[in-house]
Amino acid sequence: MTQVGIIGAGPAGLMLSHLLHRQGITSVVLERRRRDYVERRVRAGVLEQGSTDLLASTGVGERMQREGLAHDGIKLRFAGEEHRIDFRRLTGRGITVYGQQEVVKDLIKQRLADGGEIWFEAEATAIEGIDGDHPRIAYRRNGEEATLSCEFVAGCDGSHGVSHAGLEAKSYERSYPFSWLGILAKTPPASNELIYAYHERGFALHSMRSPGISRLYLQVEAGDRMDAWPEARIWDELRLRLAEPKLQPGEIIEDGITPMRSMVMEPMQCGRLFLAGDAAHIVPATGAKGMNLALADVKVLAEALTAWYRSRSHDLLDRYSELCLGRVWRAEHFSAWMTALLHRDPAGDPFDHKLRLSYLRYIVTSEAAATTLAENYVGFEGA
Ligand code: FAD
Ligand code: DHB
Repeated sequence: MTQVGIIGAGPAGLMLSHLLHRQGITSVVLERRRRDYVERRVRAGVLEQGSTDLLASTGVGERMQREGLAHDGIKLRFAGEEHRIDFRRLTGRGITVYGQQEVVKDLIKQRLADGGEIWFEAEATAIEGIDGDHPRIAYRRNGEEATLSCEFVAGCDGSHGVSHAGLEAKSYERSYPFSWLGILAKTPPASNELIYAYHERGFALHSMRSPGISRLYLQVEAGDRMDAWPEARIWDELRLRLAEPKLQPGEIIEDGITPMRSMVMEPMQCGRLFLAGDAAHIVPATGAKGMNLALADVKVLAEALTAWYRSRSHDLLDRYSELCLGRVWRAEHFSAWMTALLHRDPAGDPFDHKLRLSYLRYIVTSEAAATTLAENYVGFEGA
């Protein structure tokens, strides 16, 4: 028995458990994978100011502040040109490049130091009784079936979890006719800032993790598999699309292909079940929003649960979805917009390509258009 049963030890579930602990609320996190698996899973890398503030102000930001890379802008490359979007000048804010798996490691370490319960290799199979006061999570651990009783269930189990099945909600979805091939490579970043490149052959992104490690992405066809992409082809394509002579091939330490998808569940709650992060919404990765949305959701959810445990006030819990969805839909729009702006549409025509180039040129010549990109990228606070 615990107060809040949390499914999933990604950024959302771990941060929620940490925030609740700070308010004296107990939780158990059920995670179907092993600890080393979740700590090694390479994913997002960009933290908005709101996310870094949340980590720092709750005592889990020390390593991020030391090792994270503060960036004040990004580079846009297209048609053989490079243009810088200066976030700091346009918005007064910047971003921090710090790997998601580092956030996950920092949170796990803190939870365990605080005596927190994270049950690895415990897979939730069903959620029961969310309309009553004592919902239950059925789970499987070490081949045994068992049940965790709680007072609230937080579904933080990502896009392939079980919790959204328990929700009576409308799902708004879009899929894209391309995927991202991502690599982590032992090669020094060829640029001190992220490079978002639009090329006739498709999108490419140059990012980084440390002075010796680069994170690189390529638009590939939906359905492409890694065996169609031998290392030499990856580097050739990156060099061509990024138009970056300084980019040197290095040992590839991780690779994978991620489909691009948009999805929002509305509402994000039902009875005593509350979804957060990728379980409730997916964004295509172009806008770097997924992890940030996950952290922002659980901040709202932790405040709502705290209000309930302090004074039995359910106003914030009732309004949880409403409090999140404005920000979620802004990020959905921005991510879909950045995706359309920077990717080659396989079904598109030359007219399409010209329109995209025109829009890119508008962004790099109009202060208003650049500000639109910048204030959304760093995290629009008015949504
Ligand atoms: P997850 O991190 O998916 O965590 C869910 C957890 O639940 C997992 O550990 C999973 O094993 C566990 N789980 C699932 N089902 C069960 C079950 N039945 N029982 C128990 N446990 C279960 N976002 C950004 O903000 N910026 C970026 O730059 C960015 N780039 C990305 C690049 C790539 C290649 C990918 C794949 C994603 C990227 N994202 C980015 C998105 C970001 O990684 C996700 O939005 C983020 O992981 C969401 O966190 P979460 O905690 O909601 O879900
Ligand atoms: C990274 C991932 C993204 O999706 C993005 O838009 C920018 C950077 C990264 O992994 O560093």
